This record gives sequence, structure tokens and C-alpha cells, in this order.
Amino acid sequence: MKMRQRGRARGGRPRRDHHDWASEAYVDEWVRRQQAADPSRAERFQLICDLFPFPNDATVTILDVGAGYGPVSMFILDRYPHATCVAQDGSRPMLNRARHLVVKYGDRVKLHRSDLFDTNWLPEQFGPFDAAVSSSCLHNLRDFKRIREIYAKIRTSLKPGGVFLNADLINAPTAGLRRRYDDVAAARHRRDGAAADNLATMVRPARRTTATGNREPFPASLDQHLAALKAVGFKDVDCFWKELRRAVFGGYAQGR
Ligand SMILES: C[S@@+](CC[C@H](N)C(=O)[O-])C[C@H]1O[C@@H](n2cnc3c(N)ncnc32)[C@H](O)[C@@H]1O
Repeated sequence: MKMRQRGRARGGRPRRDHHDWASEAYVDEWVRRQQAADPSRAERFQLICDLFPFPNDATVTILDVGAGYGPVSMFILDRYPHATCVAQDGSRPMLNRARHLVVKYGDRVKLHRSDLFDTNWLPEQFGPFDAAVSSSCLHNLRDFKRIREIYAKIRTSLKPGGVFLNADLINAPTAGLRRRYDDVAAARHRRDGAAADNLATMVRPARRTTATGNREPFPASLDQHLAALKAVGFKDVDCFWKELRRAVFGGYAQGR
């Protein structure tokens, strides 16, 4: 199975963005860098857990969409001793790393490889789910129509009262804030001592034309994501955390 991405990576694999999730070397380097930054994500991962509609000792099954090497799943499994996580991802190299890292959880982790552009990407055999989570994945699809379809699919896979929480990158809501956010990011990188010639690429991610005709780095703004979640039937939809272009947002499936 090949993940559908725009463009061509080394070896002729099709790609959608600058990432090459099918490359062992690329994933190796990416995971190493990301793991160094993982402590800074703990607050968001904890918030995701705090928003779960069940206690820590509940026997639950949680879907992790685009799980990568499994940092969110492992965070959850450490805090919910009776939870099982279904770690879905399309990248064989990523899932190989996850397999290695989650071995200590035994049967409490199921790895599932599927492409989010395939109709049958959802590992339905393990559902329905008490919660679904996703971290830094869906913006990679670069296709908001497809993201909306995935939201709909996740909604149907949840138990009544279940929750979907997405920690992802979003576009600034206005052109003025787009410039402001770029300036803030540049100032931060400067304070961190980033080389000046790296700044432009670090703070100005490649922009693409979105469904609204704007040149933006990510598929949608926060308002568009929240509207999409409501449109597919989620209740109590909200943004639970936000910092410039990063947000944790989601909603609940109508209750028990
Ligand atoms: C930035 S990583 C995030 C991994 C992990 N959730 C985390 O927070 O560290 C994005 C993940 O999305 C996966 N991904 C990107 N496009 C995909 C697609 N079309 N189908 C399935 N997975 C995809 C990649 O393989 C990668 O593991």
C-alpha cells in the first residue's frame, strides 16, 4: 500500500507535501527530532486525557489517527491502565518504530496501517471507540474536503458520549494575524539563536491555495474545523487550547 501524497519523493513514491513518511531515513531523522521536543507536548496530551469522558480506571478503546511512532497512545496507556489504543497510520517506517516502542504494553496496543485517503481506512474491527485522538496528522493531508470526510467517519465510529480530540495546525483567521503570527515565530526563532538565513523557511511554511482561495500553510482555520465538526454531528464542539497556529479542538458524540 502506498500513502497518497502529492509530488514525488526519492524512489518515485508520490507525496503530498515536504514530508516523506515512506522513507526510513526521513522518518528516522524526524522521529529523533520530534522525540526531543516531546516534553513540550505533554501539557496538550494531558489536556486531551483530562477531556476524556471516563475515569482513569475505565476499560476503554481509543483510536489514535495518524499515530506515527505512538507518542499520544503511549501517553494515554501510561495513565489508563485498562485502556487499549488502536494506533492507525499509513507509514510503514513510522509503524515499525511504534511497534518497537509499544512492545511493553503488549495486547493493549493494536497497530493498523491504512491510508487516510482510502475509503476503508478506519479500523472498524476494533470499534466502536470510547474516544478518538489525533496529533499533528490531518493537516498533512492538505485537503480539507477529505478531512471533513474523516471527521464524519470518526463521528460514526464513536460510542454515545465518546469524544474526538484533534491537536493540529491551523491557519490564522485573518491576513493581519497571519503576518503577526509569522513575526512572533520569527522573533522566537531569533531569541533561540536560529541562523538568519534559516528564518524565512522556518517561520513561513510553504503556502497553498485553500478551498477559500487564500494562500495558507494549512488546510483550514480553527473556525472552519469547528464548523466541520458540528456539521457531521459532534456536540459541545470547542477549542480547548490554542497558541498561534497550534490548537487542540474537538467535540463529543451525543450522550449516553
Ligand atoms: C507529524 S506525524 C505525527 C505523528 C504523531 N501523531 C505525533 O503526534 O507525533 C504525521 C503522521 O501522519 C501520517 N500520515 C500522513 N499522511 C497520511 C495518510 N494519507 N494516511 C495515513 N497516515 C498519514 C504520517 O505517516 C505520520 O506518521
